Amino acid sequence: MRVQWLAALLGVLASKDFASQVLADVPAYVNDYGYDREAHGIHPVQVYKSTDVVVPHLNLLQRDTACESSLYTLMTPRGQATREAQATILDHNGHLIWTTRWHDQQLYNLMVQEYRGDNYLTFWAGNDAVGGHGAGFYYMLDKFYNEFKKVGAANGLDGDLHDFRITQDGTALITVYQIVPVDLTIVGKAADGPVWDCLIQEIDLETGEAIFEWRALDHYNVTDSYRDVGGDGEGDRAWDFFHMNSIDKDSKGNYLASARYTHSLTYINGSTGEIIWILGGKRNMFNDLSGGSATDFAYQHDARWSDNETTITMFDNGVDDFHPTIATTRGLRVRLDEEAMTVALAAQYINPQNIHGISQGSCQTLPNGNTILGYGNTAAFTEFAHDGTVLCDTHFAPQSGFGKGAVQSYRVYKYDWVGWPAEPPAAVIAQDSTDDWAFYVSWNGATEVSTWLLQGSEKSNGTDHDWVDLDTVYKEEFETEFTLRKWYPTYLRAVAKDSTGIVLGSTDPLDFNSTNRLWKPQTLRVEEDEDFAIRTLVIFCGVLSLGMLLQIARSAWHS
Ligand SMILES: *[C@@H]1O[C@H](CO)[C@@H](O)[C@H](O)[C@H]1NC(C)=O
Ligand SMILES: *[C@@H]1O[C@H](CO)[C@@H](O)[C@H](O)[C@H]1NC(C)=O
Ligand SMILES: *[C@@H]1O[C@H](CO)[C@@H](O)[C@H](O)[C@H]1NC(C)=O
Ligand SMILES: *[C@@H]1O[C@H](CO)[C@@H](O)[C@H](O)[C@H]1NC(C)=O
Ligand SMILES: *[C@@H]1O[C@H](CO)[C@@H](O)[C@H](O)[C@H]1NC(C)=O
Repeated sequence: MRVQWLAALLGVLASKDFASQVLADVPAYVNDYGYDREAHGIHPVQVYKSTDVVVPHLNLLQRDTACESSLYTLMTPRGQATREAQATILDHNGHLIWTTRWHDQQLYNLMVQEYRGDNYLTFWAGNDAVGGHGAGFYYMLDKFYNEFKKVGAANGLDGDLHDFRITQDGTALITVYQIVPVDLTIVGKAADGPVWDCLIQEIDLETGEAIFEWRALDHYNVTDSYRDVGGDGEGDRAWDFFHMNSIDKDSKGNYLASARYTHSLTYINGSTGEIIWILGGKRNMFNDLSGGSATDFAYQHDARWSDNETTITMFDNGVDDFHPTIATTRGLRVRLDEEAMTVALAAQYINPQNIHGISQGSCQTLPNGNTILGYGNTAAFTEFAHDGTVLCDTHFAPQSGFGKGAVQSYRVYKYDWVGWPAEPPAAVIAQDSTDDWAFYVSWNGATEVSTWLLQGSEKSNGTDHDWVDLDTVYKEEFETEFTLRKWYPTYLRAVAKDSTGIVLGSTDPLDFNSTNRLWKPQTLRVEEDEDFAIRTLVIFCGVLSLGMLLQIARSAWHS
């Protein structure tokens, strides 16, 4: 009898939900076994109450405090399993900071870049179904997320998706593709077969003019390619023999260009356009001091000078769509001696599960020396210590879709960013996961919100003095939730404050009465009140009977 009473008592206490705050955002999965086997679908997404944006729900396979947590993660999720391509910024824990779609276009290469002393979000948008590259424009958004510049390629050509690098001189380096006729008799095609030439254009961002242009076909032979001509090089199928995918400019004013299908990096004289040297591929000019592993990269992307221009990093895909597993996909850091013409491996960055990236991909050295790889076609990014130690490993779609293009992001980079959206914050009164009504607020792109203040008023259009403070919640996720009390005034709004208490903005007022007050919250509160009364009674009876039992036991002992 006593045991049953105790069990009943404990059961009642345990059934009480003591969690005072239900998170509006669902946290990222942490090493979730089912995630990678589609237990949550082929594209698990995070959804919100106050806005209809949808962003990838991450699976954090490996975490480490040495990962750079002060920077945001920038990506452009797209692919067959996604609703529409998007540019997305997430924080270190996978919570949304900002996301946008772009006029039904494909999106690539989201970055933070400096132009004339100010930071801009930059990306490419356009049509990416142009034989592995793109025809579109480069966009620069200011800190208010307003379009600051829309940049195109010069000389009547299309802007390709692969690179848009703003230099310290106020110019931008872009990749451009153009079909030209080439004598292809050496590969068994016509004497004027169509070939995709690849251009570097350096664009003056003030005038839009090209101040420098370089063409691969002026310096490379189609036989330098590792890409079989196959059915290309005839009719309307141009042969993509070179496939330039990144351009860097160093402090000497020279260019470093990466070409996927020649497996080579080309260092180009900034004043003459002449090739200074070639690293990798059929025309490699360097003596590899690491037994071949510093020069045997293949199908690589995103070659950058690093370590004060003493090393070069790249995303070495190693594989492509026709040869998806022939080699390891790795980040590569090589050290060059341009006098002795030697190259040596400085570090390799290899994913703990040895995943491959058959196309696209990125390799970025962070300010603290860590290196982050984005696996392009494969929905994953991994952060390493400078020496190659794996620190953090993240999937943004299930591993079962890797290599199939279900969800991909051309690059994944990390940057600092401060955004002050011109749009006001969004709010809604809606039911939470336990059917309680709550007030939800979010502000797409607002990086400086520290706290949300819930205010109420009997006037929807009154002055600030008419609004009384009701509740305060620290902003920790993208969307913040306030519990509603039945005594709250007719109109409610949320006010965003920064860490010093300065008001950043507020939502439009919501009419608490017209949404739900008149039925659901009151019904729920009544139920809760009844519940509470029953529990109190049960606890009271429990204590009483325990006391009686003790009394009986004591008298039994004494007798
Ligand atoms: C390209 O390479 C082939 C084979 O080495 C050679 O016969 C041809 O002359 C080269 N073409 C050019 C334009 O250099
Ligand atoms: C680039 O070309 C200029 C002009 O001919 C020359 O003075 C310079 O030495 C070249 N740079 C390199 C690294 O070859
Ligand atoms: C970078 O290299 C240049 C040229 O060798 C040198 O003058 C400069 O001090 C270096 N900067 C740093 C931060 O090491
Ligand atoms: C506020 O709204 C009320 C009711 O709609 C209206 O009567 C009043 O004139 C409005 N006041 C202002 C200052 O707009
Ligand atoms: C809103 O509902 C509350 C509680 O039922 C009521 O006191 C208040 O007058 C209502 N406000 C309006 C504008 O009808």
